[in-house]
Amino acid sequence: FEVSLLVVMISYYLFGQRSSWKARLSSTMLRHSSEVPGPLALPVFGSCWVYTAVGGYSFTRVHEFYRDMFLQHGPIVKEEALWNVPVISVVERSDIEKVFRSSGRYPIRPPTEAIAHYRRSRPDRYASTGMVNEQGASWYHLRSNLTSHLTSTKTIASFLPQVEEICGDWCSLLDQLKDPKDLISNVEVLASRLGLEAICSLVLGRRMGFLYEEADSKLTYRLAHAVSNHFGACRDTYYGLPLWKLFPTPAYKKLVESEEEIYNLVLEIIESADEASMESAVFQSVLKADVDSREKTAAIVDFIAAGIYTMRNSMVFLLNTVANDPKIQEAILQDPTGAYAKACVNETFRLLPTANCLARVIENDLELSNYRIPKHSVVLCHTGLACRDDRNFPQAEKFIPERWLDDAKQETTSVGTYLVVPFGIGRRTCPGKRFIEQILPIALQHTVRNFKMANVNPLEVQFEFLLAPKGPINMVFEKRF
Ligand code: HEM
Repeated sequence: FEVSLLVVMISYYLFGQRSSWKARLSSTMLRHSSEVPGPLALPVFGSCWVYTAVGGYSFTRVHEFYRDMFLQHGPIVKEEALWNVPVISVVERSDIEKVFRSSGRYPIRPPTEAIAHYRRSRPDRYASTGMVNEQGASWYHLRSNLTSHLTSTKTIASFLPQVEEICGDWCSLLDQLKDPKDLISNVEVLASRLGLEAICSLVLGRRMGFLYEEADSKLTYRLAHAVSNHFGACRDTYYGLPLWKLFPTPAYKKLVESEEEIYNLVLEIIESADEASMESAVFQSVLKADVDSREKTAAIVDFIAAGIYTMRNSMVFLLNTVANDPKIQEAILQDPTGAYAKACVNETFRLLPTANCLARVIENDLELSNYRIPKHSVVLCHTGLACRDDRNFPQAEKFIPERWLDDAKQETTSVGTYLVVPFGIGRRTCPGKRFIEQILPIALQHTVRNFKMANVNPLEVQFEFLLAPKGPINMVFEKRF
């Protein structure tokens, strides 16, 4: 027995010391990207199996898959796409910052390949794959020619009176549609109408009337439905096996149908453009842009499609977080400066960003969490998860608008520079950012001034290429006066 014990002790001393020495050494040495931990990768199919019955995740739970992977493997995770192409995910603030800071003149966001594939097959409609999907000089050409007015502070400031009017109409619509118990079912559908009205007004320079009770609900419904199908189909073609490259799969067919439906409906709206549209700064700047004429229609289609669903989701998340607490609603009411409403918007973006993860193709080798990740790798920055980490924001899971105000503001803003990025970051930042930052606090103020809000059910979210509320969202809007 003693001899065995001695052998165990000597072994422990020798190998135990050695392994901790090894661990210390390896913690200071950069490891190869192939060693990044992650789910089992099969030959050819990579980690795609995680979204099957065996893996246990569905496409609506992609966000949960990543959360679980970080819990299981640590702050850097590798999955493998088809043909074992590695995709790296990071959640540490320092890693996310490195990725964003390393972008060059033309940051590369991996394109949605199925859309690019479809658009290339329609040269009659598309001269390129569009601003959202193009890269390099071709992306820059579109971006610099088509978005200068959309992103200008002057254009957005001059749009303020229309924004106030639209938000007033939004409240009238809520008032007309709530039932005798003050309940509104499907708040998300009304939020789509708000998004559609606001974005069409901005881009086309005239009120479309989507917020009137008797509005052309067929057009609104078809457009909102097509945009929702579009995001679902983007997700399914992106996360599923890309068999659509070989034959038109059901997801690809849905994507094509929704792309065509959006294009045709928006074309209808553009063609009905009247004199007011001709005076719209955004519309005019697109018409006069020095780009192929097919790009002009495609840009307007893309602006409207990119804006409706993102705005709908953000508006529902905002109403939901504020409706959870009457004290927060009171604080918004008591603050004539609007700073508290803005803080609520920021805090909702921190906790529930509809774009909860930003993708980049890195242009240089980067050291991320002690691994050397080679240039040209796809890196997913999980900003949404990082925002829920107590190391970044105290009591991170709690909705505390005050962290964006007074003395706390500087610290939150500084930590949030690369994390609270609901519109992305750098040169590929969303061109609709200024407009949305203007309209959301105003819409919130109007709603709170008119109604006491309460949620009927706890919010559930699902992944629809974006993080989206799982409908139907039922809320109570009790008139204040
Ligand atoms: C709440 C509303 C919105 C959110 C949360 C949002 C979010 C985003 C995000 C995260 C990106 C990617 C940025 C990056 O990779 O760094 C993006 C890109 C884009 N967004 Fe938005 N967006 C919103 C509204 C809008 C609106 C209203 C428009 C147009 C009027 C718009 C047009 C675009 C376009 C064209 C791009 C591609 C930009 C490029 O690649 O250069 N978005 N958006």
